[in-house]
Amino acid sequence: MRRPVVMGNWKLNGSKTMVTELLTGLNAELEGVAGVDVAVAPPALYLDLAERLIKEGGNKIILGAQNTDVNNSGAFTGDVSPQMLKDFGATHIIIGHSERREYHHESDEFVAQKFAFLKENGLTPVLCIGESEAQNEAGETLAVCARQLDAVIKTQGVEALNDAIIAYEPIWAIGTGKAATAEQAQSIHASIRAHIAKESEAVAKNVIIQYGGSVKAENAAELFAQPDIDGALVGGAALDAKGFAAIAKAAAAAKA
Ligand code: PGA
Repeated sequence: MRRPVVMGNWKLNGSKTMVTELLTGLNAELEGVAGVDVAVAPPALYLDLAERLIKEGGNKIILGAQNTDVNNSGAFTGDVSPQMLKDFGATHIIIGHSERREYHHESDEFVAQKFAFLKENGLTPVLCIGESEAQNEAGETLAVCARQLDAVIKTQGVEALNDAIIAYEPIWAIGTGKAATAEQAQSIHASIRAHIAKESEAVAKNVIIQYGGSVKAENAAELFAQPDIDGALVGGAALDAKGFAAIAKAAAAAKA
């Protein structure tokens, strides 16, 4: 049985005040919630504050981050390493988000390198994959997802996906308010799982596949009711404690 994971990707949002209010609110909202792993990925500068607030709240929340470098130290100006993330208690690290693929020209190969380096350092990669609107309209959704996944599978072996998380995020649904329908998302999730099953049924059966793209409290239950949707990667709606907690609660309820 896969335990759902609901993760908040805060992107480039935050201040000391905002981080304090949001995590204090989440600590309260998540009191007594079981059956779901809840994670947050604040901007790296706020990891220290977030780590302390999560501890104060009794460690109900998993700390994550939005990116990593592929080196642990050295002359790499502006980068943040897995060991630094670990030093602040971050365990779940988003890689390959479409915003990084697009604005920072990160290739499938570079994302796969990050994946390997996170694993080498004992961290959990949250590997984002997904197609653009044009690719979707051209019927290339599965081919794009397979190519992005294969960058990891073909270089590291399918077993590398053990203890990792995949986040299927159709780019046209991110930040647009236009989420995939539960049926659309389920169909792609099932195909992604089938693609992995060609290499290993056991890995396919156990790997968490989150849906991301305009998930909110209002559409969460319907998405989580689908058998192959194991949680969500949430952007905009993760900036509100009540709304984000409602999504986490919906996942717990759907998978109970
Ligand atoms: P959104 O972002 O929930 O604001 O659409 C999701 C993401 O980019 O991870």
